Amino acid sequence: MIVPFFDLKAQYASLREEILAALDRAGSKAAFIQGEDVDALEQEFAAYCEVKHCVALNSGTSALHLALLAAGVKAGDEVITTSNSFIATAEAISYTGARPVFVDIDPRTANIDVGKVAAAVTSRTRVILPVHLYGLAAEMDSILKTATQHGLMVIEDACQAHGARYRGARVGSIGKSAAFSFYPSKNLGAYGEGGALTTNDDAIAAQARALRSHGESRRYFHDIMGFNYRMSGFQGAILRLKLRHLDKWNARRRELAEIYRRTLAGARVELQDAGAPGERVFHLLVVYVADRDAVRAKLEERGVGTGVHYPLPIHLQKPYQSLGYRQGDFPHTERACERVISMPLYPEMTHEQAAYAAQTLREIAGDR
Ligand SMILES: Cc1ncc(COP(=O)(O)O)c(C=O)c1O
Repeated sequence: MIVPFFDLKAQYASLREEILAALDRAGSKAAFIQGEDVDALEQEFAAYCEVKHCVALNSGTSALHLALLAAGVKAGDEVITTSNSFIATAEAISYTGARPVFVDIDPRTANIDVGKVAAAVTSRTRVILPVHLYGLAAEMDSILKTATQHGLMVIEDACQAHGARYRGARVGSIGKSAAFSFYPSKNLGAYGEGGALTTNDDAIAAQARALRSHGESRRYFHDIMGFNYRMSGFQGAILRLKLRHLDKWNARRRELAEIYRRTLAGARVELQDAGAPGERVFHLLVVYVADRDAVRAKLEERGVGTGVHYPLPIHLQKPYQSLGYRQGDFPHTERACERVISMPLYPEMTHEQAAYAAQTLREIAGDR
């Protein structure tokens, strides 16, 4: 059996008629940059996230950047985050001139170890930026408590967690603001780049709206220096349509994840095994194994495609060497990066494919 790591063509095929009609409608209105569909997407995604404002943008990286700028983060400040993430989490901090300060992960969740956040706070810290990695919410109660104690803001990196909840609350509605990515492979993916900032704070939303379009207050009058971070009209049309399927797709991801969990019980494989199963959205199904590269090669031989998210933690990436971190500074993060494999998991997969991928992994990794 062949189980590709992911298959965006299958989803396109299932939506083709709807997508073509939506693109035709948007094209007929010549609404190429922002416009009606993007405005409607903002309202619909805000309602979905149970939050007051959504500001549609051209990427998750832009959303993180604007969330930090709108929070007043500037050169000389520090932002506490995790090194076990996509590099954009740290890059957005660096764009503001602030310094990313990393904290190790809790190996059970792969998310920031909330027990270590307070020790990383200094007089320069402004923001705590947890990442809801692979669709599992970070432990927000504890993060919010630490933030309140030290007078800090919390910004959620929800780029991998569309629709996830934490103790009943939607991610994206818990911190001061949040960033989502609509990169094509995300749980809610555009057909190009896309992102959004969500917030309940009127001033932050207004600031983000101004910053995304050259700081314009009205056409060709610029109050502040901004960026071109606008969403294209076609992406708005596609995302609105796909948003209607998101809960169904996330439910399907949970079903498939449960097949992996059951099949791998007792195998020599660790899972990101935490949180209420009904609240997670399984952007990725990751497992941790010894001798990762050999296991991946054997999976590939038997028709199972895999990915690695991520092979090198941010603190060891070249652009961050100047921060002075060393190998061994964050042992749980480094161990995770050495052992992690992302297994195939997407709504269009069959139960049989999930069972085959999980069973094949079990046979390769062996039992405990
Ligand atoms: C955790 C995380 N943060 C930030 C980003 C950046 O999003 P984008 O690729 O849309 O700029 C991504 C996605 O790629 C991500 O996974």
